[in-house]
Amino acid sequence: MIRRLRRNRFAVECFLARDPRVAESANPGLEGGTALRLKAATIHETATRICSRDFLRLSCRLVDRLLFAYLLMETFYVTTPIYYANSLPHLGHLYTMIVADTIARQKRQQGIETFFLTGTDEHGINIERAAQRNNRTPKEQADYVVSYFKKMTAAFGLDTEHGGYNIFMRTTEPFHYAGVSEFWRRVAKAKTPKGRDALYKGHYEGWFCAACAAYKTEDEYAKPANPDEPPTCLVHETKLDRVSEESYFFRLSDYDEALLNLYESRPEFVLPDVRRNEVRSFVQSGLQDLSVSRLRTSVSWGVPVPDDPTHTMYVWFDALTNYITAIGFGNEQQQRAVGFEKFWPALHLVGKDILRFHAVYWPAFLMAAEVEQPRAIVAHGMWLDPNGRKMSKTIGNTIELDVLNKHFSTDAIRYFCLRDMVFGQDGRFGYENLIDRTNSDLASGLGNLSSRTLTMIQRYCDGRIPQRNISDEGLLLAKRAGVDTDEAAVSDFVAHARDEFIRHFDKFAFSRALEEAWGIVARVDKMISDAKPWDLAKDASQRQTLNAVLYRAAESLRWLSVLLYPVMPNAARNAYAQLGLTDDPSKIHPGDLKWGELSEGVETGEIKPLFPRIDKAKTMEEIENQESGVRSQGPGAAETRPSGRVQGSGQHATEADAVPSTAGETPALPVKKEALPGQNETGEGLIEITDFSKIDLRVGEVRSAERIPKADKLLLITVDIGEEKSRQILAGIAQYYEPEKLVGRKIVVVANLKPRKLRGYESQGMLLAASVGEEGKPVIATFAEDVPNGARLK
Ligand code: MSP
Repeated sequence: MIRRLRRNRFAVECFLARDPRVAESANPGLEGGTALRLKAATIHETATRICSRDFLRLSCRLVDRLLFAYLLMETFYVTTPIYYANSLPHLGHLYTMIVADTIARQKRQQGIETFFLTGTDEHGINIERAAQRNNRTPKEQADYVVSYFKKMTAAFGLDTEHGGYNIFMRTTEPFHYAGVSEFWRRVAKAKTPKGRDALYKGHYEGWFCAACAAYKTEDEYAKPANPDEPPTCLVHETKLDRVSEESYFFRLSDYDEALLNLYESRPEFVLPDVRRNEVRSFVQSGLQDLSVSRLRTSVSWGVPVPDDPTHTMYVWFDALTNYITAIGFGNEQQQRAVGFEKFWPALHLVGKDILRFHAVYWPAFLMAAEVEQPRAIVAHGMWLDPNGRKMSKTIGNTIELDVLNKHFSTDAIRYFCLRDMVFGQDGRFGYENLIDRTNSDLASGLGNLSSRTLTMIQRYCDGRIPQRNISDEGLLLAKRAGVDTDEAAVSDFVAHARDEFIRHFDKFAFSRALEEAWGIVARVDKMISDAKPWDLAKDASQRQTLNAVLYRAAESLRWLSVLLYPVMPNAARNAYAQLGLTDDPSKIHPGDLKWGELSEGVETGEIKPLFPRIDKAKTMEEIENQESGVRSQGPGAAETRPSGRVQGSGQHATEADAVPSTAGETPALPVKKEALPGQNETGEGLIEITDFSKIDLRVGEVRSAERIPKADKLLLITVDIGEEKSRQILAGIAQYYEPEKLVGRKIVVVANLKPRKLRGYESQGMLLAASVGEEGKPVIATFAEDVPNGARLK
């Protein structure tokens, strides 16, 4: 209460002062000030409107009390990025939603009214192109992707029905058009901190990446080998578009000092620290004005610029504004339904890939429009594949949600995402790691602790929560049995771990928080193993000792269920119910937990395993088959892709369906049933698809090639296969290929071959070539179409 009071002091003072401006001058710069000020002002206005002055004076005390109570209500607003509606979500998108959902559940659990936004970014050239490829209108394309998103969020328990997001925001909503137009008008009227117009018309000339929806400077693209071709985006490895046209510009260059002041005065504005430093250096290195519109003739799928319909808004200007239009900025509909003043400012959770848009452009737009800055921008790291490359549709190494959903419980996925990835840093995803963690931490750890405790309560205590206390006479006996008679040894440990859990959680250190919770699991496991309840049960004089041990275990499980609810809602609720408790852990503030409040004598519930063990070999095989099944259907089989547990009557959208076929999607080998040439009918000599998938074949681009002294057959080649560093490969092709002519060529590389040394050089892979004629002349395998580096052949 005191904490809340302090946080809302400003609003309360504003209200009591009856004039927000009075309070404002007395309390400059208090966090969240504007929102609370507005809140106080709105309430004051409404109260005055509905009550006559005299009545207000008479009932002043009552009104004050009610309004005071209202002001004490804390609110919280958390957002994920809104995802492009050109392609289907994968683990990366799911991850941000899981983190946001976990934060939202924790806030709600603490009694804070919380609004959680996720959604789709539906305008721009990228969506327009995806629609064209799929023979749809852009809106149909967006609807199609959104329907998959909704099924997916429902399947993973992230939708409203399951206590997840409050809004699935779409930038094609009419209320968004109204809000973003109002926002544009405000910016158009604004002066920069240096006194110039914030918006002006000019001419843009440069390169644009449709996939990033961003203009690219020279250090952000790779120059082509052939100067007639466009450069390639370093992020997506796709060709850039040349843009040369009239455009509205936002005078970002005038906002450098204001932004630096913002980062300085609010060190928690961009988190973690390492990201704040990156953003600061970016701003310090000098900001360029930003093109914020495209001619309608080149990008028609977007929000028209107010008062100039020949232009459409730059998709990031449109998309970022969703965070405020969703709660009512510039439109009546959402203002009535949600309330801008009630929830703004938000905590924006984003991947580090889009930090600049959120921590530089968005704050500058908000400054121009005179809207309060977000609460914070918190950037997480990227999920990488087991080889350390960012998951991306273009490379084809994404983790499919259908596969995840079919083989793993949502709680296991949530736990894995939060435990395995150190928040803020990149993490590598492997199904085997997910299975190992599920089996060790969940099935053998928490799950086993819960089932062994409840089974013993069932067996030795008639299925009722046993008595907590040991009488004075019993203490000696308990000591004799080696049981610590000081209950506080356990309860203090659990309470300390709870405090640490909350402390880490509030700093987004989810992995550390979970370590603390698993510290409790280990501590209680040890307590049980040391006390050996199965032996105590054989000795009638140790009845109290046995009861006390099992009570402590059950009470610890109650605490764990409450603590872990935001991370694993289903398992936490199950564990809680199995203790015989009928209230809901989602409504208990972990800070309010008191040791000993588990009521004795309560009948425990039916024991069900919280986390069934996963058969690793079997599941891995099924996953591989499912993945190769998806692949072997190829792009044409879009609508029939297995959907796992994503239920619904409509068609299932697929990546193949939504992603450009030119973006590195390699049609997969059809799995043939008949014998292949060279093999007999019984299939001898044939390999399984799983054998083939062990070979990691990648598209590479030769960066350099040179002869090796005194080795006339070998060339030393460096190849870019989409990893941070190029690979060095020795190839026996020197007699047939001129090294210079190889540079820039796309080749096929075996990327997971053990490195070996030849003539003192390490070869880190092998290139594929046909062996032609009697002398075995090598002819390098290559591609007729453009393919990105690192794309997998499968
Ligand atoms: N539409 C923009 C965002 C506009 S917000 C006003 C966009 N969309 S996106 O579809 O590309 O989504 C990017 C976000 O998806 C990342 O910032 C991150 O939240 C999530 N991820 C996508 N791939 C990811 C990983 N490989 N790993 C972790 N998160 C990833 O950018």
